[in-house]
Amino acid sequence: MFIYKNKTSLNTKKNSKSYFIKSEKLLGSIKVPGDKSISQRALIISLICSGKTIIEDILDSEDVFHTMKAVILLGANIKIIDNKVEILGIGIGNLVSPKKPIYMGNSGTGVRLLLGLVAGSNALVTFYGDSSLSVRPMERLIKPLEQMGAKIVCSNNKLPITIIGARAKGFVLPITYKLPVPSAQLKSAILLAALSARGITSIIESKESRNSTEQMLKKRGAAIKKERVNKDKRIITIEGTSFLRSRNIKIPGDPSSAVFLAVAALITKKSQISIENVLYDSFRLRVFYVLKKMGANIKIIRSNENNCKIVAKSSKLKNIFLTEKLSVSLIDEYPILSIAAACAEGKMTMQGLRELRYKESDRFTAIIEGLKKSGVNANSDKDNIIIRGNKKIKGGFTLDAKYDHRIAMSFNILSLVTDKPIYIKGNESIYTSFPNFFNDLKALGALSRINE
Ligand code: S3P
Repeated sequence: MFIYKNKTSLNTKKNSKSYFIKSEKLLGSIKVPGDKSISQRALIISLICSGKTIIEDILDSEDVFHTMKAVILLGANIKIIDNKVEILGIGIGNLVSPKKPIYMGNSGTGVRLLLGLVAGSNALVTFYGDSSLSVRPMERLIKPLEQMGAKIVCSNNKLPITIIGARAKGFVLPITYKLPVPSAQLKSAILLAALSARGITSIIESKESRNSTEQMLKKRGAAIKKERVNKDKRIITIEGTSFLRSRNIKIPGDPSSAVFLAVAALITKKSQISIENVLYDSFRLRVFYVLKKMGANIKIIRSNENNCKIVAKSSKLKNIFLTEKLSVSLIDEYPILSIAAACAEGKMTMQGLRELRYKESDRFTAIIEGLKKSGVNANSDKDNIIIRGNKKIKGGFTLDAKYDHRIAMSFNILSLVTDKPIYIKGNESIYTSFPNFFNDLKALGALSRINE
């Protein structure tokens, strides 16, 4: 079903061996696939709404597929009709204990949000994932979810994790919790558990992270508020409830996917592309404002409340200094931003990148090693990455993407401008977020070959 239905049409075997060669002209207009964060949240939140939800334009990718399968195992009834997913929710507190462990593939967002949801239920669930997800930190979630009453069994605070919801033998305790790291996944897990708590849960954030969970819960009737105490302190409060009303949703395009196409246009010589249907959200679009500061010829044209069009043209980029303050909003974008920096003039400093080490791979190391192998001067200093851009980049090596879609896509894009191509081991990881990546770039004019 779903992604697998499309896999044949996507030519997975061919794409896993594809690589880009020097290309000059990317032209045309393209629609990016649905936002990954919002697609997964739409499935998870619809599961606990009362009534039917229709999700339109959901991202058709592997991460979403795994989250959808999990949501079915937890009790949702799902029908797929054309590009619409119809979900019959089961309301809050009615999760089913699946008979077998749930496989979440590579999806950190999927598993972390679902752990929160199950923590507030009376279900017993075991989650496991692929080799990348199995080494990602879960301690940050385990602590607050245990405080709320969930029982969690695992080794080394990693997947596989068996969780028994707090309501199996008692009730969900509301907590006041200061997030030790700025993380939307952690914040969302606590919010989802807190929906079933008796009372008000407060989450204290020192840095703002993406807020799609808050927005979606609010639109479905949850009593959720945010107060900005000062520039380093925000308090999000949520009241336990027994009812969320269902609400249809159309998923906007993913800015984090759009930026790969935009950077491809910026660094190639005679390009002009227009990326349609991108989510309009200033937090998620921050990378485009940063690129504009680097001299990028980018226009963001708002089309309605939720969507915009991004026009990107070949540009002469210059490097800048990015403070730690920006790091949460750019966290998924540092790999492709590093590629832009490699092609720009001067020195780029990107501060406060500690969290990059805990993504689908250790992206902090992957960026520096990949750029060094490409012939670019890239170094680290504590949690900062420093890149000195090059006019001519040699390339000519194979990079192991280590199950990390954004590392794979970033270095595929760099291959558009290197003297010799960069071959990627692990292009399959791109199916987690952007299955049409190769086809879309080829349609815009990127030249590619197959590694036989
Ligand atoms: C996401 C939050 C971020 C981001 C990830 C998606 C989300 O992770 O890196 O790709 O959907 O909530 P963290 O919460 O770990 O920062």
